Amino acid sequence: MSERIYLLPLWIRLWHWTNALLIITLTVTGVSLHFADPKLPLVEFSLAARIHDMAGIALATLYACFVVANIVTGNWWQYVPKPPGVLERCIVQGKWYMFGIFRGEPHPYRVSEEANFNALQAISYWVIMYMVMPVMLLTGITFLMPEFAPDRFFGFDGLLPVAILHYLTGTVIIMFMIAHIYLGTTGKTATSMFKTMVNGWHEH
Ligand code: HEM
Repeated sequence: MSERIYLLPLWIRLWHWTNALLIITLTVTGVSLHFADPKLPLVEFSLAARIHDMAGIALATLYACFVVANIVTGNWWQYVPKPPGVLERCIVQGKWYMFGIFRGEPHPYRVSEEANFNALQAISYWVIMYMVMPVMLLTGITFLMPEFAPDRFFGFDGLLPVAILHYLTGTVIIMFMIAHIYLGTTGKTATSMFKTMVNGWHEH
């Protein structure tokens, strides 16, 4: 008989899907702006710029709410991999993703209300949410208010490092999202983790 626990409160699910929608919008418009070609526009340039700006402001606002909600509810603790044996658990988890899953071995980690994420999930979510996202958002905001960027940077235009960091962090988030969707299929069934993100209930 399958056992289930109520894992994700409504605010996390609402945050998650709004965040995903905004990031997909930013990806499509960001790709259109970066590889702009008047003969072959994915989204017409000025429209893509307007949508990208609005979605970026919405994402920065949502991110601020995410950080405050994580502090207030104590959910930030989920993102901290709990010692001892973090490295060992990362290796066991990584081996399962690479080999064990294809041999039908049981999932090495049992989700609980106290520790929702396995060690690899906790570390990667922490890096994305608390290291990569802030850099992407701050460089994006600097593009909206370029007067805050330095005039020159080692002889180059001051906006060059901002542009490079924005592009790199955006690319990391897109790569994360692709891997994250694949790893989302590694629950009890291929769709059970997606269902958890919709209804909040986790199935063992
Ligand atoms: C269409 C795109 C996306 C899909 C289908 C998706 C799917 C999922 C699923 C199934 C889970 C639950 C599994 C788990 O707890 O690990 C989850 C959790 C999570 N996702 Fe996504 N995701 C998407 C985009 C994103 C993006 C763009 C980010 C961040 C930049 C993100 C960050 C997270 C985080 C931090 C969690 C854990 C939330 C929590 O339980 O507190 N996701 N996602």
